Order: sequence, then C-alpha cells, then structure tokens
Amino acid sequence: MGNRRPFIAGNWKLNGSRQSVADLASAICTADLPETVDVLLCPTFVHMSDVLAVASNSAVQLGAQNCAIHAHGAFTGEVSVQMLSEYGCEYVLVGHSERRSLFAEDSALVASKCAAVQEAGLTPVLCIGETLEQRDAGQVKAVIDEQLDAVLGTAGVGSFASIIVAYEPVWAIGTGKTASPEQAQEVHALIRAKISALDPEIAQSLRILYGGSVKPDNAATLFAQPDIDGGLIGGAALDAQSFIAICTAAG
Ligand code: 13P
Repeated sequence: MGNRRPFIAGNWKLNGSRQSVADLASAICTADLPETVDVLLCPTFVHMSDVLAVASNSAVQLGAQNCAIHAHGAFTGEVSVQMLSEYGCEYVLVGHSERRSLFAEDSALVASKCAAVQEAGLTPVLCIGETLEQRDAGQVKAVIDEQLDAVLGTAGVGSFASIIVAYEPVWAIGTGKTASPEQAQEVHALIRAKISALDPEIAQSLRILYGGSVKPDNAATLFAQPDIDGGLIGGAALDAQSFIAICTAAG
C-alpha cells in the first residue's frame, strides 16, 4: 500500500429499495470504521440525498456512479456533476466497465467525463481494466495504455494529481474470480510506472484501487501489495458487515 492513505469505495450499482439503502448506509456510517481509511459510498442518483442524510454525520463520503459531460441543457435523462455536487457528492465513478460495455462509453467519452468531474471540482474515480479475451490475447498493457492515454491526452498528467484510478479486470467483476494479489499488483505497478514516466511525484501519490470480487477474506492480501491502495467494492458492499470488514482490512 506504500505510504498512501487507503481508500475503500462501495459501488452499489442498481440495487436496493429506498429503505434498504438507507438502512445499509446507516449501518456503515455508524460503524467503527478505521480513521486512517477514506470510505466512499456510491448509491444511485435517487438514493443520494437519503445516503447523505446519514453520511453527513460521519467521515463517510458520497460518490456517484456516473455523470453527464454537460452542465445543463437538452440532454434528457442526464445528471450533471454540478447537480451531484449540490447533493453533497464529492466523487464520481467514470468509465466503469459496465458503462463501457453496456452503455457504449468509449475512452474518449470517459476522458470527457473525467474532465467534467474535475472542472466541477469533484474527484473522478477512473475505472480501467481488460476483459478475459484481452488478457488471454496478451493485451493487458495495450488496453491499460489506451484507457489511460485518452485521459492523459485530454487533461494531461497533471490531472492525475486529483484522480483516483481503479483497476477492475472485467473478468473478476461479480464473478467470484478475484485476480490473484500478484496479478493485480503487476497491473497496478504498470499503471504507476506509466504515470511515473511522465511525473514521478504524481505517480508516487496516485491512489490505485483494485476492484473485482474483493471480499473480507481476500481483502488483506490484496491490500498488502505495494501498489494496491484500496478497493472498489461491488457485491460485498451490499452487506454492511462485509463492507466494514473490508474497510477494517485496509486500516
Ligand atoms: P464485485 O465486487 O461485485 O466484483 O464488483 C466490482 C465492481 O464492479 C465495483 O465497481
């Protein structure tokens, strides 16, 4: 984990009722979470204010799962970063693999979203990662390069001073198949080296999260890797005790 402050984010995706989300947020926000760890919860847009109501009395921060690239205008169904900010949101996930694959978001659009988040003064959690086919074809580095180059080309390496990167191998998301700590570390080191070649200082402080079937029983060994600075948690974030255990493992 190096000397970077650990960061654990829960991505609840499209789950829960108003009541169950409020209960889950309340259980997490009132828990005895380690003070040394940044904890983020990412509910759906409509659950944002209910989560804020309980999170605002705690150190837990609020994030969104997606955003528009526009601030306002004729963009039916979209939600802008400025609107999210008004609801206490401080982070936005951009480029999650489900957005890339199911909603046709390419790296150029992801880079625009990243820039929109930063322009509004919020922090992007930039998700990158390869599919199983790409891994099997030996394309991990090429995929990571393409996904990072889009952001580097748009906003420059300086933007990485306030970006959090999440490496999420697509084949490990929701499958119960975690990357081994060594597999994950190898890609995290590759990401850091790429940024380091452009700006060693920014690379040194860049937080790179691992996501993909992180559970309480594998969290500690993943977080023990030198370039893994925390996790982006899906399924296990829907269970308060599991999520709290993962936060504790990062502390
Ligand atoms: P799982 O933890 O369910 O594999 O999901 C990971 C993820 O996609 C978090 O954004």
